[in-house]
Amino acid sequence: ENSNIRVFLNSCRHRGMKVCRADRGTATEFTCPFHGWTYSNSGNLIGVPFFRNAYGEEMKKENWGLKEIRNVQNYGGFIFASWDPVVPTLDEYLGDLRWYLDILINRPLGGIEVLPGQQRYKCVANWKLAGENFVGDTYHLRSSHASVYALENIRQISPVIHAAPDHMYSVAFENGHGLTGIEYTGERYRMDLQIAREMGSDVVDYIEESHRRMEETLSQAQAKVHSLSFGHVFPNFSHNSFSAFRPIGLYLWHPKGPRGIEAWQWCGVDRAAPEVVKDMVRVDFTRTQAAAGIAAQDDTENFEEVTEATVGVIGRSLDFNYQMGMKKDYQKNMPDFPGDLSPYYSEYNQMGFYRAWSRLMGV
Ligand code: FES
Ligand code: FE
Repeated sequence: ENSNIRVFLNSCRHRGMKVCRADRGTATEFTCPFHGWTYSNSGNLIGVPFFRNAYGEEMKKENWGLKEIRNVQNYGGFIFASWDPVVPTLDEYLGDLRWYLDILINRPLGGIEVLPGQQRYKCVANWKLAGENFVGDTYHLRSSHASVYALENIRQISPVIHAAPDHMYSVAFENGHGLTGIEYTGERYRMDLQIAREMGSDVVDYIEESHRRMEETLSQAQAKVHSLSFGHVFPNFSHNSFSAFRPIGLYLWHPKGPRGIEAWQWCGVDRAAPEVVKDMVRVDFTRTQAAAGIAAQDDTENFEEVTEATVGVIGRSLDFNYQMGMKKDYQKNMPDFPGDLSPYYSEYNQMGFYRAWSRLMGV
C-alpha cells in the first residue's frame, strides 16, 4: 500500500501457520497455506474462505490482522526491529559503533548489494560462542584457520596475512558490540591498490574512487581504516569484510535453545564493483564462509565441540580465561578513533559482550 518498511510476525492469526515462506521477493498479499486466510502486505486480514458459511456475522476481520512490530529502525539499509516499545533509539543503541559501520556501508560505491540466496545451517552449539567469536576473537585465526592461510593462491586474503598486529586494534562499545582487526595506518587500502594494479586500470580507478569518496563523505581516519575486519552487533548480528576484494559477510545467529544455533547468512558485494571483482567476491564467499566453506567449518567445529565439552557437571563449574590484553593504556595516542580501544590480541571485547548479556539476563 505504501513504500514504508513494515515488519510482521510471520504467523497466521487463525492457527499460527507461516503465511510467508519465501526468503525474498515482493508480494501484495499473503495467503496462508493452512486454511487460506489472506492478508494484505500491510497486515490486514482481507480474505477468509467461506466467510459467510463458516463465520456468519460474528467474525470481525479487522481484529485479526497480522501482529506488527511497531519499533522498526533503519541504519544504512540494515533494518532492526524490537518488540519492546521502550528500547533506546537505534542511534543510541549503536553509539560509536556507527562511526565504523559507516565505513562498511559507505565504501561500496553503489551501496551493498546482497547476492541472491540466503544460506542457512544448523549447528549444535550455544549462540554466544558465535557472538564472542565475531566480537573480538582474532586470536583463533592462525590456529583454527591455518588451512586458509596455507592456501597461498587465495591472493585476496593477503591483506589479512600481511597486516601487522601492532597496526591493528580491537574496539568495544556500550551495549556489548565490538570489532577487531581494525587497521588504522592505511595498509588495507595500500594492499587493495596493489591487488587492483594486477587486475587492470578500471579496477584501480574503482578502488581509488571509493577511497576518495570515503575521505570526502566520512573522514581521513575512516578512509585509512578502509575496511573493517570482523565484528558483532549485540546480540546476534555479525559481519566481516577485510578488503574491497572480499565478501561483505552478514550473519544472523538464531538461538534454538541453549545448544542450538540456526545461522542465516548472506554475501554482500559493492553494487558498483567491476564484474571481475563481484565474481571474485562470490567465489570467495562460497569457498570460505558458506556452510561447507573452509573457514566456516573451522568455526562451527569449535562452537560445537566447546559446547559438548563444557556441558557436563564439572565442565560447567570451571571458569574460562579472559585475561588477554587487559592492559588499558592503549587508547591515549589514538584520539581520531572512537570507542573503547584495546590491542589486536585482547579479550576486552568478549568481556563487554558477556557483560551486556549478563545485564540483560540479570545474572
Ligand atoms: Fe492460517 Fe488456518 S492457520 S488459515
Ligand atoms: Fe573464525
